[in-house]
Amino acid sequence: MNPENNVPELPDLTAQWDAVEAEHRRLANIRMADLFAADAKRAETMTLVAAGITLDFSKNILDAGALGALHGLAKAAGVAARREAMFTGAIINTTEVRKVLHVALRDRSGVLEAGSGLPPGTMAAERERCYAFARKVRAGEWTGHTGQRIRAVVNIGIGGSDLGPAMAYRALRIFAIRGIAFRFVSNVDGTALDEALEGLDPATTLFIVASKTFTTDETLTNAKSARQWLLASGAGEAGIPRHFAAVSTNAKEVAAFGIAPENMFGFWDFVGGRYSLWSSIGLANMIAIGPEHFDAFLDGAAEMDKHFRTAPAERNLPITLALIGIWYRNLFNRATQAVLPYSEALSCFPAYLQQLEMESNGKGIRLDGSPVTHATAPVIWGEPGTNGQHAFHQLLHQGPEWMPIDFILPVKHLGKFPDHQTKLIANCLAQSSALMLGKSAEVVEREMIAAGVEPEEARRLAPHRAFPGNRPSNTILVDALTPARLGALIALYEHKVFVQSVVWGINAFDQWGVELGKVAARGVEAVLRANAGSSVSDPSTNRLIANIRN
Ligand code: F6P
Repeated sequence: MNPENNVPELPDLTAQWDAVEAEHRRLANIRMADLFAADAKRAETMTLVAAGITLDFSKNILDAGALGALHGLAKAAGVAARREAMFTGAIINTTEVRKVLHVALRDRSGVLEAGSGLPPGTMAAERERCYAFARKVRAGEWTGHTGQRIRAVVNIGIGGSDLGPAMAYRALRIFAIRGIAFRFVSNVDGTALDEALEGLDPATTLFIVASKTFTTDETLTNAKSARQWLLASGAGEAGIPRHFAAVSTNAKEVAAFGIAPENMFGFWDFVGGRYSLWSSIGLANMIAIGPEHFDAFLDGAAEMDKHFRTAPAERNLPITLALIGIWYRNLFNRATQAVLPYSEALSCFPAYLQQLEMESNGKGIRLDGSPVTHATAPVIWGEPGTNGQHAFHQLLHQGPEWMPIDFILPVKHLGKFPDHQTKLIANCLAQSSALMLGKSAEVVEREMIAAGVEPEEARRLAPHRAFPGNRPSNTILVDALTPARLGALIALYEHKVFVQSVVWGINAFDQWGVELGKVAARGVEAVLRANAGSSVSDPSTNRLIANIRN
């Protein structure tokens, strides 16, 4: 790290990339089935376990040699040193000149907090403020302006101030308090707020305005309309403090909005928005599942942190997941990564990962200002299984280009229909197996004939019904989707993203790419609100404005 201007010296990884390329050439035509045939212990040796998470990465076009070269790349990139820099509070977010210490938020021992420079116990104290508030809401001691208990919590936020809380609520709903509805508003489209407020009584509704900067236009627009909705019910200005809490780093703007300081729950600039669920941004979740479960959530993440920080690279889940992603992104040039949770409760997890991965690693400039030498973040997409099998698995099995897949499977059903679980598990395992093994046209033709199909017809259909196979995937098992396991799962992906950013030499913790659109929107809005005649910079947009006006 170059202390003067915070620009780190990026190592030259040419030799390591060449070694990985050589491994790719060696394995380019290998079939995974042959790798299993050659090594009876493959499934066992390519399974790693940590913090209750099991990663089976045996169904990959990988062997010890390729993995060795990939680990050589990570080592030369300085993953271990950058990891220590993060955990100890170095300024690794060099374009915003900030530390990156979301890991300190879930270290309830307070050891990692020291790296933040905050007085010891500051994080625990703020968390306890949140917990005290959550207990009051859960117990009905926090009441609205008419003295009634809260029956609905509406979280107003967007990006990291929405996706994390919404995903965690969805994932842990089975642990949530009954009798309080939780809703999440993010889009500035009035439909979002309209639908969130549907059926709610202003007198028993609590709004949490979650915004790290408290300047995000969508969030403030929704918050102002929510305030109007409350006032229109006759609450009066004096009623506002009973129905609005704020989560932010910006006390000045919170006060300006009219939310009392005692209703503001804070966090700090060294916590990135998409890494902030562990902070006061998780307030809605603290109310939903309660402090004890939220502590377990934090502890699960802390357990994965400890594993990431101490496990040897070859047994390290985040490093392994990161390198497999780099293998397919950079050596096989796969532009997308599918994340398929076989779990309704994890239905919001792919959307959450889209911000975590694509806003962290969707970068083209390296830490030293030079262009990236390799492709960076893939497009993350996915829907829960088994639904995807009836939507896009056709492409996954028979499309000309396969894409990497993470299957995520919580094994134990926590709800009322455990007898369904065997089918869910069977489908998840069957998909990864079928993708890998495929079925040749010869076998297909033989099976059709054996089933009584005319040989001529069997021959005609065989190509259409054959499966190329050799399509890789990871399977991540979670014993049960508890708060602790969800914490560990999220931390696994956070650290995977971090390791990839180090190999690519980019800053995973800034997001300058969102600025241009925000500024342009203000310009277009001004034109839309002005009388005819004013225009913006490009003719297409002016034409669109004219069409819209008509
Ligand atoms: O998408 C840009 C972004 O700044 C995200 O990084 C952030 O999570 C989101 O907008 C919301 O920001 P805030 O929490 O400050 O309202």
